[in-house]
Amino acid sequence: MKHRLFLALAIVVLVPLAIAFGVRSTPSAPTPAPSMEISTATSLRSLAQKRGISIGAAVELEPFYNDANYRQVLAREFNTLVPENAFKFQFLHPNPDRYDFSHVDRLVEFAKAHNMQVRGSPLVWHYAQPDWLNQGKFTREELLGILQTHIQTVVGRYRGQVFAWDVVNEALNRDGSLRDTIWLRHIGPEYIDLAFRWAHQADPNARLFYSDYGNDELGRKANAMYTMVSGLLQRGVPIDGVGMQTHKRLGYAPRLNLLSENIGRLEKLGLEVQFTELDITIQDGTGSREERLMKQAQTYRSLLQTCLAFKNCTAFITWGFTDRYTWLGSLTGQLEAPLLFDESYRPKPAYNAIEDVLSSHSGK
Ligand code: XIL
Repeated sequence: MKHRLFLALAIVVLVPLAIAFGVRSTPSAPTPAPSMEISTATSLRSLAQKRGISIGAAVELEPFYNDANYRQVLAREFNTLVPENAFKFQFLHPNPDRYDFSHVDRLVEFAKAHNMQVRGSPLVWHYAQPDWLNQGKFTREELLGILQTHIQTVVGRYRGQVFAWDVVNEALNRDGSLRDTIWLRHIGPEYIDLAFRWAHQADPNARLFYSDYGNDELGRKANAMYTMVSGLLQRGVPIDGVGMQTHKRLGYAPRLNLLSENIGRLEKLGLEVQFTELDITIQDGTGSREERLMKQAQTYRSLLQTCLAFKNCTAFITWGFTDRYTWLGSLTGQLEAPLLFDESYRPKPAYNAIEDVLSSHSGK
């Protein structure tokens, strides 16, 4: 119960706070990201390749443009990158008639140069929307037009270059009801079906996902999501899978039996599951910092093991990769140390755990 309360607190208080204070403006004058010769012979990505799983990280623009170590570790270790913010409506489509693709283009170019996949997130979200959209007065028809044009312009531009999209992000409340957003309010629940259909028209080969937090272990929200995606499938809506963000704190990771049941029943529906935004903060664990880092490693280990036990679990993506740059830092001012590399790009126990599972696991 205590566990639930903490989780609720984290989601209700911390996530909106982080989002409110953390949404960064994009750097205005990008310097070129030089191409590099990087050996990936002994890296997570070479191991992940053999397991047939995407291993990825979210990428922030500031370090991407300005920190060569960041780019080097990114390309060496991961076969998948997700622009952490650059795909968001607010940054990509700042005025009704203007898109700014410059940052995503640079990331896509980098991914190509290093033989990485790009994951796009999100197309429809209630957050990180521009003022012109939040404050505008639109009829239903106008909003339908705005959403269709946005999705088809963005997905169409990156057709064949973005292997998977979070088409709709965080559409559900904790109790399983649909979140009150401008899309729901003015279009109705069918905005979800339409978003998937439009995305599919724009790139029939891209894998399309519904993504959320708090949907990893069985519970009210996971059940509501299950009902929702079952409905999409019944109506012939082109959805390929479900993204589980999995932002966690030590001791509050999804219970593995409930997570497995959830992944298993999505598999029966024919859907993929991807861990899309993993991070595990160590702030609240008990014990020394070293002990907490070991527990963190254990949590990453068991999540990856669970993923590898299912054929339909196809990606393991962390929200950043070095503790030097994480969206959580701006929240508390403390080093939450949620990722695989420390602030100096040294692999942490969590990295070693993942390396170990990828080398030894017999699943898939
Ligand atoms: C976060 C970014 O990491 C922050 O930099 C930004 O300020 C706010 O958004 N769920 C999501 C992600 O789907 O897009 C969010 O990313 C984190 C929560």
